[in-house]
This record gives sequence, structure tokens and C-alpha cells, in this order.
Amino acid sequence: MVDDVLDRTIAPGYSSLGFAFRSRLWPDDDPPPDALVGATTVVTGANSGIGKAIAGSLAQLGATVVMAVRDEERGESARRELLAGQPDADLVVERCDVSGRAEVRDFVARIAARTPRIDAIVHNAGVMPPTRSQTRDGHELTLATHVLGPILMTELARPLLAAATSSRVVFMSSGGMYTQPLPRADPEYRLGRYRAATAYARTKRIQVALTPVLGERWSEDGCVVATMHPGWADTPGLAQSLPRFRTMTRAFLRNADQAADTAVWLTATSPPPPSGLFWHDRRSRPTHYRQATRFTEAQRDEVWRYCASAIGVTP
Ligand SMILES: NC(=O)c1ccc[n+]([C@@H]2O[C@H](COP(=O)([O-])OP(=O)(O)OC[C@H]3O[C@@H](n4cnc5c(N)ncnc54)[C@H](OP(=O)(O)O)[C@@H]3O)[C@@H](O)[C@H]2O)c1
Repeated sequence: MVDDVLDRTIAPGYSSLGFAFRSRLWPDDDPPPDALVGATTVVTGANSGIGKAIAGSLAQLGATVVMAVRDEERGESARRELLAGQPDADLVVERCDVSGRAEVRDFVARIAARTPRIDAIVHNAGVMPPTRSQTRDGHELTLATHVLGPILMTELARPLLAAATSSRVVFMSSGGMYTQPLPRADPEYRLGRYRAATAYARTKRIQVALTPVLGERWSEDGCVVATMHPGWADTPGLAQSLPRFRTMTRAFLRNADQAADTAVWLTATSPPPPSGLFWHDRRSRPTHYRQATRFTEAQRDEVWRYCASAIGVTP
């Protein structure tokens, strides 16, 4: 019950205090130290913040981790930093701008040429651009980064995920998505005044809304799909996007490892968690706290059809 209260009151639950309280609830629930030996995992945006922490923890559990980054130099530097603490970690840096269709296709082709199987993809890469911008493919940047690129990457990797015995796909959403309804009439944020936090939260809402649809779709490949939010963590991304918020809350922010915990657990826990749910601190959580954000199945399917057509897959 205290866990639920923490969730509803937001600030304490999302902070390091919430993590400290909840982690006492799962003393025996950590995946075993060899949980991912032999597994190949992909983490996007793995050169910084939460993604880097996820990469380090998955490697610690024995996985080969493909660090998918848009800047190879930053990726190599993150890899070196992780190796300094874990010299045996199996970390591979691969370039991939997840917001670009061609880049994502090229990335999956390179991975497929190297490995017959992917056990998990953690779609962690995230952005909050201050002004509205579009990718070369003509899509609004947060939509392309948080939704279109990750779905395309997973679609292309389906044969590789199907080759694993218990594959997982994890989307890193945000508690900010609770503030926004599904932008079904304007998924590309073409209308109205652009606000960075709104664009961010809308596309994080789309991730959560589509999770049951994708869970069902990719269940054919034996793949579990989960979306999660990490709470509030002190990362380079937060410092850049929300500097004032960071200054005010710094003493209570999670560190990147605490924010990464649920993604690592969802990837490595056995038996696999149920598919299609939204998670925070190793528990599934409600997807709405306000009536105003609710949507019908038909409205959700409309957004799904838009996204599928944008990346060229049959819904
Ligand atoms: N920190 C928080 O409190 C918080 C709260 C809720 C949700 N989240 C989510 O957690 C995830 C990680 O955020 P963070 O706080 O760790 O921020 P971060 O330090 O800025 O990390 C974001 C990562 O995503 C990468 N990235 C951005 N666009 C990309 C693209 N098109 N292709 C490939 N990589 C790309 C960045 O690469 P570059 O270094 O090249 O920019 C960076 O490595 C994000 O999805 C964020 O929305 C964070």
C-alpha cells in the first residue's frame, strides 16, 4: 500500500527515496549473477546516463551488449569508462541514429550479419528538443526517436528476436507521459504552439499506449514487450533539458543505476514478466491517473496505423 501511495504522490516515489523504500521490498528478486551469460542485448543511447548504466549492468550479468549510439566517439568513451570498472565486460559500440529509417535499417543489417540472435533490445534513447524539428524522413524528432525508430528497429530484428528462447523488448518511457493524452489527431505536433515538455510527454504516452498492441504483435516471436519509467534521475540529459528542475531536486534525484534497475530486471528476470504492461520499480503500474488522458481502443488503433504506415509496415 505504501508503494501505491508513493506512486500517486509522484515526488517521493520518483526520487531516490522511493527507490530506497521499494528496493527493500525485493531483497530476493535480483536476477542471478549469470542470468544473461550467452545473451546478446542491444541498448540504444548507451553512451550516457541511464542507457550507459543499463549497458554496464547487462554486461555484469554476462550479456554481450551492443551499445547503439549516434556518436561513435562518445560511445567509445563510455565503453572505456565501463571497462575501467568491469574489464571482462563484453561491450560493442555500433553507430545508430534511431530517429532515421535508413540508419536503423543499416544498423539491424550489420547486427544480423554478426549474430543469429538478439535476446533483448532496450529502447532507451531519448530527447527533448527545445524547438520543433524534423528528421530527414520528415517526422517530428521526438516521435521519430521515441516511437518510430524503436518500432522499426524491432520489426526488422524480429527474426533475430524469434531465434532467442525468451526475448524482451523494453521501451524507456517517462512519468511525464501521465500528463498527456494520446495525440491521435496530431501525432507529428504540427498544430498549436510547440512546447518541448509536451512533445516529449506525448510521444512517451504513445510508447505506453502502443505497448499492448506491440506485445500482441511480437508475441508470435515469443517476445515480451514492456514499457517503463525510471523515476527522476540525475543524468546529462536531465541537466540539459530541465536545468532548473535539476537544481531544485538534485538532493533527491536517483542515480543512473537506480533509474536503470527496472530495465535490467525486465531484461534478465526469470520467468519472463507478462507482456504488454507499463512498469516502474519492478511493478506494473497504472497507465492513467486522470480521466482526461484516457482513450478508446479505436483511437489507439488510429495512432498505431499512423505509426505503422510511417515506417512502412502492415499494421
Ligand atoms: N533522467 C530522467 O530523470 C528521466 C526521466 C524519465 C525518462 N527518462 C528517459 O530515460 C532515457 C535516458 O535518458 P537520460 O536521462 O539518461 O538522458 P541522456 O543522458 O541524455 O541519455 C540519452 C541518450 O539517448 C541518446 N540519443 C538521443 N537521441 C538519439 C538518437 N536519435 N539515436 C541514438 N541515440 C540517441 C543520447 O545520445 P547523445 O549523447 O549522442 O545525445 C544519449 O546517449 C530517455 O529515454 C529519457 O527520456 C529519463
